[in-house]
This record gives sequence, C-alpha cells and structure tokens, in this order.
Amino acid sequence: MMALNNGSLDATSREAAIKAALASGDANITSLFERFLPPEQRVKTLGVNFDAKKLLAVKGDAKRGGELISMSGKLAACLACHIVNGIGRDFGPDLSKAGARLTREQILESLHKPSKNIAKGYETSLVTLKDGSVQSGFVTHSDEGAITLKLPTGQPQSIKRNQIKSQQPQPVSLMPEGLLQGLTEQEAVDVIAFLAGLK
Ligand code: HEC
Repeated sequence: MMALNNGSLDATSREAAIKAALASGDANITSLFERFLPPEQRVKTLGVNFDAKKLLAVKGDAKRGGELISMSGKLAACLACHIVNGIGRDFGPDLSKAGARLTREQILESLHKPSKNIAKGYETSLVTLKDGSVQSGFVTHSDEGAITLKLPTGQPQSIKRNQIKSQQPQPVSLMPEGLLQGLTEQEAVDVIAFLAGLK
C-alpha cells in the first residue's frame, strides 16, 4: 500500500498490484484499493436518487443479501433494530417473514423512504409528560390507567395517564433514511432478494 502511495513502483507494477487486490474478491481488501482507481472505474453506489424501476429489474442474489445482513456484514446495523431468523434486537418489526407480507417494491420503499408507509403498530408517538420530559416510541399497550411505550432502546416503559400532558403521533419513522446510499445497485437488489425470500 505504501509503495502505491509514494510512487516508488513503476506504472506497470502499480497497475498489476491494484488489479490483483481488486480481483481478490475480499470486500475488505477491494474497498481499500478502490481509491487508486480512476474515478470512472470506482464502484458506483446508489446514492440518494436512483430509479426504483430500473433497480428492481436487476436480479438479486438472496444468499449474498443474507451475508450483508449478518453480524459481520456491511448491513449489520439492520440487526440493531430488527430480528432476522433469531438474530438481532427486537425494536422494529421482526423481518424473519418479511417476504410473506411485503413485495420487492414495498421492501425497497421501506428501505428508501421509511416514513412513506409506516408498519402497523410502529407509528411513532411523542409523549410529553407533566414534568416536562419527552419520550418517543411505539405504543404497545394502552388502557384507561396507563400506556406502555417501547423506547428506542427496545425497553418497554409504562407511563400513567395522569402523568401525560400530551401524546402526539409523529409522521416520521424511527427507521433512519439513507441506509441504501452506500450500497451498489447489485448489493441493494441482493438485500431485497434476501428479504423477499424470507417466508
Ligand atoms: C434505528 C432502528 C432501525 C434500523 C437501523 C433499521 N430499521 Fe428497519 N425499521 C425500523 C422501524 C422502527 C420500522 C417500522 C416503521 C416503518 O415501517 O418505517 C422498520 C421497518 C422496516 C421494514 C418494513 C417492515 C414491515 O413489516 O413493513 C423493513 C423491510 C426494514 N425495516 C428493513 C431494514 C433493513 C434491511 C435495515 C438495514 C439496512 C433496517 N431496516 C434498519 C427500525 C430500523
């Protein structure tokens, strides 16, 4: 890597070294060497604006998608909020049967624009208490005396109604936007294929 940076290699050896590294198939290695390529040869990521129709026309590989959404994968962050086949944290909907209730189009939309269609039971509630504090989360239980809020930490919290000053539904999903941005087109369809195949 040093020799690539300081120019001590001649052009032919330099090119050969970069080519070999990029051909290794190891994502950790290829991502390190990417920056030595001319801009037009670097891997293109989806970014913010992309054509959903064009993207869904690409065939995904469910197995590779599953590797991305694993503890050591590029999308391990999903597991901080979702359970997938027994792994992950219980905050957002369990995705172990995502494909049984969502089409590929819907999965893409959930990832690209989480707030457009918020999963039932996962609408965000903003609760202001009489002591001035504010909590947000999902209302998982509600009766005359109290509500139970599932906090972003995943913990349930019971709040007595007589402590509540106001309770407002929020139009924004607690799932962050932009999770697809750093993926390539192929990685994005791989993830969609993986989730669509969970039935
Ligand atoms: C900070 C927590 C958080 C992270 C990180 C997160 N999600 Fe979510 N996700 C949620 C919440 C909350 C919902 C439910 C609200 C909604 O529909 O937007 C949700 C909804 C979804 C849905 C729709 C589920 C349904 O039943 O309608 C899919 C699919 C999904 N997430 C996939 C993913 C994937 C894939 C990743 C990783 C790239 C991810 N999420 C990362 C919190 C998160």
